[in-house]
Amino acid sequence: MRKLTINVKPPYDVIVGSGLLGGAGKLISRVMRGTKALIVSDSNTAPLYGKMIASSLKSEGLDVYMHIFEAGEKNKTVKTVWDMLEAAASYGLTRSDAIIALGGGVTGDMAGFAAAVYLRGIDYIQIPTTVIAQSDSSVGGKTGCDLTYGKNLAGAFKQPRLVIIDPDTLSTLPHRYKSDGMAEIIKHGLIASPELFDIIERGSLDMDDVLYRNVDIKRSFVEADEFDTSERMKLNFGHTMGHAIEKYYNFTGPSHGEAVAMGMVIAAKAGESAGLTKKGTAERICSVLKQYKLPTATEAPADKLIDIAALDKKRMGDIINFILISDIGHAFIHKLRAAELSDFLQGAF
Ligand code: GLY
Repeated sequence: MRKLTINVKPPYDVIVGSGLLGGAGKLISRVMRGTKALIVSDSNTAPLYGKMIASSLKSEGLDVYMHIFEAGEKNKTVKTVWDMLEAAASYGLTRSDAIIALGGGVTGDMAGFAAAVYLRGIDYIQIPTTVIAQSDSSVGGKTGCDLTYGKNLAGAFKQPRLVIIDPDTLSTLPHRYKSDGMAEIIKHGLIASPELFDIIERGSLDMDDVLYRNVDIKRSFVEADEFDTSERMKLNFGHTMGHAIEKYYNFTGPSHGEAVAMGMVIAAKAGESAGLTKKGTAERICSVLKQYKLPTATEAPADKLIDIAALDKKRMGDIINFILISDIGHAFIHKLRAAELSDFLQGAF
C-alpha cells in the first residue's frame, strides 16, 4: 500500500494498493467526521463491491445507506444528481456525514457534485473502480454532470476527503474499458513523464506502480493549478480534437479514451508540421497506441472536426488553448485563434 498527499486546502490522501477494498471501512472511518455514510454506486458496480464496502463501513460502527442509479453516460444528468440529493436528505445526512462514490468516472463525478451542493457541501470519498477513474478523474476535484448541450457542462470544484484505489477491481472490467483508460495513462506519460512512457512502451504493466505514478502526475498538476486556469490545462492533451471526434459521432461512436488517442496523434502531427514537436513523436505515439489496441486515426471528415473544435467548450473568448508536446514528457500550451485552427491542423489527419 502506498500513499500520496494532494496538497490543496484541505490536503487529502490517495491510497493505492491491491486488496484495499476489503479494509476500506477502516481507512474511511479515520476521515469521517459524522456517523452516516451514503454509498452512491451504479447498477454495474454495486452488485460487485457494494456489500463488501457496506459491511466494512458497518464494522467500524457507521450507519450505512446505499443509493444505486442506472449505469451509463446517458444517465449522467441533473436528474440523477437530484435523486442522489433526495436520497441523502431522506436518510437524514447532516453536514458532518459523507457520500462514498463507488464506481467509475460517471459515478465519481456525480456523487462529488451531489456532495458539493448537498447542504452547501459535505465530505465525499472516492473509491474508483475503472482505469480512467483510478488514473485520472477520482483525483483533483472536478465534479459534475452532462447537459443536453454537451458533456460535463454543469459542475463544481470539490476535492474529495480521501481516495482509495484498489487495482484488483480492474480484473472485472471488460477489455474495451481497460484500453480506454490506457489512453489517459499514455497521455500522462506524454505530457509529464518520459519514464512512465518508457514503462508503457515496454509493456507487462505492474498496475499498482503505474497507477501510483499516474496519481503523482495528476497531483503535480492539481497542486499547481487547482482551478484549471493554466498548468492543469496540459491534462487536455489530445482532448480538443478527441472531444470533437466524440461530438461528431454524437457520443455514440468511439469511447472517450479512443477519441483522445486519435486526438493525441492529430496534435502530435500538427506540432511536427509546425516545427513545435520533435520529428518522429507522432510515429512513436501511434505504435504505443496500437500496442494497447487503441485507434490512431479517425474516419470522420477533417473539416467537420475542425468546425466542432473551433467551438470547443474550453475556448476562452476567441482563444483555443491547444495543448502540444515538444517531446515525450514535455507539454506546453499553444494559443490559437479559432480562425487559425484550420491552417494549423492542415495535414494532421
Ligand atoms: N481530467 C482533467 C483534469 O482533471 O483536469
